[in-house]
Amino acid sequence: MIKPHGSETLNPLFVYDPVRHRELLQEAEGLPSLLLNSAAAANAVMLGTGYFNPLTGYMSAADALSVAERMRTTDGLFWPVPVLNLTRDLASVKGARRIALRDPNLAGHPVLAVMDVQDVEELAEPELDFIVEKVFRTLDPAHAGVATFRSLGRYCVSGPIQVLGFSYFQSEFPDTFRTAVEIRNEIAERGWRRVIAFQTRNPMHLAHEELCKMGMRAVGADGVVIHMLLGRLKAGDIPAPVRDAAIRKMVELYFPPNTAMVTGYGFDMLYAGPREAVLHAVFRQNMGATHFIVGRDHAGVGDYYGAFDAQRIFDEEVPKGALEIEIFKADHTAWSKKLNRVVMMRDAPDHTPDDFVLLSGTKVREMLSRGVAPPREFSRPEVAQILMDYYRQEVEGQV
Ligand code: ADX
Repeated sequence: MIKPHGSETLNPLFVYDPVRHRELLQEAEGLPSLLLNSAAAANAVMLGTGYFNPLTGYMSAADALSVAERMRTTDGLFWPVPVLNLTRDLASVKGARRIALRDPNLAGHPVLAVMDVQDVEELAEPELDFIVEKVFRTLDPAHAGVATFRSLGRYCVSGPIQVLGFSYFQSEFPDTFRTAVEIRNEIAERGWRRVIAFQTRNPMHLAHEELCKMGMRAVGADGVVIHMLLGRLKAGDIPAPVRDAAIRKMVELYFPPNTAMVTGYGFDMLYAGPREAVLHAVFRQNMGATHFIVGRDHAGVGDYYGAFDAQRIFDEEVPKGALEIEIFKADHTAWSKKLNRVVMMRDAPDHTPDDFVLLSGTKVREMLSRGVAPPREFSRPEVAQILMDYYRQEVEGQV
């Protein structure tokens, strides 16, 4: 099986030993507490689940600046996005060497992790700007990811952590949330050797289904791991439970048995386009995928990134050999009226835009919320039904 990123074996930071786990929880009750923000909590879950292998905790200011600038930590590890524990208020942990990190997303704020505090640093405004500019390629506060990052605070609390829970991801998505360890195990159990991963934060329409199938054929994969983000999104994105149901229905009806796994991971969307695509590739390697699909406007938002910038970064900025996972770069995919099937536009050079069934996200949302199913060339009817039910309930104020 493909090696994890940066080490021979996967080293999830979750404490699996029950005795040690209990001891740490007991110890945490007597430690000073820091209430995490959602971004830092999601980082803890990604560290705990093994997706952020081989990191051992939150990055220092020097590592964050180095990662932002050249996609390497100060030790030279290839890493595309700073993994930070930023906070606005240090009062509760001032001077402490060991602290409990509390979960902002669960009632009662239970302990999510225990941390050895290595450094507490204040990031200056130009340093925060530098990170934002490098990671998001814009300083525009209207960018959803920039706005979130800006709200986190300027104090950087860094050091190794031991993770004690998986937050709401495990309780709310028991059938879908999986650690990198679990996905590796399931890949082995299924006997898959070549495995292509598909990132998604949206329900999957016909173009996405076909994208997975084309990717599988192109790389000769035994199976696809559909790996959905289960964390926070921007307003207007479809909530994870609805998306999960729609994707499961699609796989049940339209994928041959033992060719697709429907899974999810606990992280908030960054909307960092190219840099996030590289982070996505890193953690798909950690979960055992040999290939990763990057299509049109991967992890993008608005028009901050060019449609294929998230592919270009792998050619232009990721050094050869930095990652073992291979990228399947997909062109814009849509139904061809001439060929009566979904194609990648680069495979239909004689087509004009009118030869494709193209619907904008806004148009599709508008149709679904009026109870109108998009055409069969765009959506599977069973998937459209789940989405229409969601929009109808939302209109009726029941969601
Ligand atoms: S993302 O933010 O998680 O990347 P989304 O769920 O919309 O957003 O996309 C999932 C994956 O499918 C990404 O790799 C994206 O580039 C790709 N993708 C989505 N729609 C298309 C399309 N019509 N053509 C090609 N690739 C697409």
